[in-house]
Amino acid sequence: MLTNESPILVTGGAGFIGSHFVLDWFAEVGTPLVNLDKLTYAGNLRNLQPIADNPGYHFVRGDIQDRALVDKLLAEFSPRAIVHLAAESHVDRSLVGPGDFLATNINGTFVLLEAARAYLDKLDAEDRARFRFLHVSTDEVFGSLKPGDAPFEEHFAFKPNSPYAASKASSDLLVRAWGKSYGFPAIVTNCSNNYGPLQFPEKLLPLVLDRALHGKPLPIYGDGMQVRDWLYVGDHAAALRVALEKGVPGQTYNIGGWNEQANLDTVQMLCALLDEFLPDSPHRPHAQLLTYVTDRPGHDRRYAINATKAERELGWKPKETFATGLRKTVRWYLDNQAWVQEVTSGEYLKWMDTNYGAR
Ligand code: NAD
Ligand code: DAU
Repeated sequence: MLTNESPILVTGGAGFIGSHFVLDWFAEVGTPLVNLDKLTYAGNLRNLQPIADNPGYHFVRGDIQDRALVDKLLAEFSPRAIVHLAAESHVDRSLVGPGDFLATNINGTFVLLEAARAYLDKLDAEDRARFRFLHVSTDEVFGSLKPGDAPFEEHFAFKPNSPYAASKASSDLLVRAWGKSYGFPAIVTNCSNNYGPLQFPEKLLPLVLDRALHGKPLPIYGDGMQVRDWLYVGDHAAALRVALEKGVPGQTYNIGGWNEQANLDTVQMLCALLDEFLPDSPHRPHAQLLTYVTDRPGHDRRYAINATKAERELGWKPKETFATGLRKTVRWYLDNQAWVQEVTSGEYLKWMDTNYGAR
């Protein structure tokens, strides 16, 4: 019989948001958790060292597209929920090689849905009613806003513009269809840009931070006036935990920080913090390193999330402001240079050549 003490199965728990979700889970809930992660370049078990020896934690290295493996895990652990974060997540990489995005984000989600549906068929009515599938998605499915447009609401049409966004929108639609067609108990969250400790330095903030420390040019795509709505990753992890407990199957919830900023302003804030934390740096003022480079193809101009529904129905609110969250983030990267060095060797160097060589 499933109870609140039954395990949850998390996919992608060794990635950026997944690691925060797993750490938050053991801090706030503490019931067993199985982490299924392929450990692509973006997955890092070092992130999970604080809970690696917890008897309730089980790590399984594997691909969400491996139906036999997913079936085996569901039979072995009898989870009360699946929290699905595993994905290829970087827009620039999706422009260079969309195949992996379609495979993991679309087919991987399809495999999980089908495996979970078969698992549910074997449960009794009470256990079926208790089970939840939390699908973690992005605001990029809604496309791009113009300056005066209202922030994204849950009912807005999908207009994805990158292969990444299209793959996530496709997975959201599969989840929706499984809910409608099979009564599958799925909850979807669509979140804005996350930032914080443990983010792989291919994404804007950790990339710029790392380059600024080494006195390298800070690549600003296009005119730098694209707007993103930044949310501290710890606040996202908390939102997912609450969505799992209080979210209603069939519903989607937009998660965001009410914090729209142009990239140029964001990078300048980061440079000012580096100036403050590193008074003896030869690269001060770090903002002198800003360099305009060729824009990202199909670059979405503005994202903004209306998180009213999540706040009202889940009782969730972000705790960090951008000023407090960014300060914590910069401090963490300065204090954890060994982590950065480990992840920026090898494959990362090839990516830097591929993405920035021709800009
Ligand atoms: P990430 O790239 O840091 O981590 C992805 C994780 O998934 C890694 O641990 C990787 O090893 C694992 N993975 C990839 N392919 C896999 C596969 N086939 N099988 C099993 N594991 C696999 O991503 P993230 O930034 O932590 O994002 C997590 C989720 O949140 C994604 O679904 C993403 O679309 C969504 N999201 C991200 C953001 C953001 O700003 N980063 C915002 C909104 C939503
Ligand atoms: O909105 C949610 C999404 O946020 C998530 O779904 C994605 O997984 C996540 O990667 C993120 O997507 P973005 O494309 O917005 O993030 P990225 O960090 O790649 O870029 C943020 C902004 O900064 C974007 O407008 C592009 C710009 N940029 C990015 C890089 C890497 C630059 O100007 N220079 C850069 O070198």
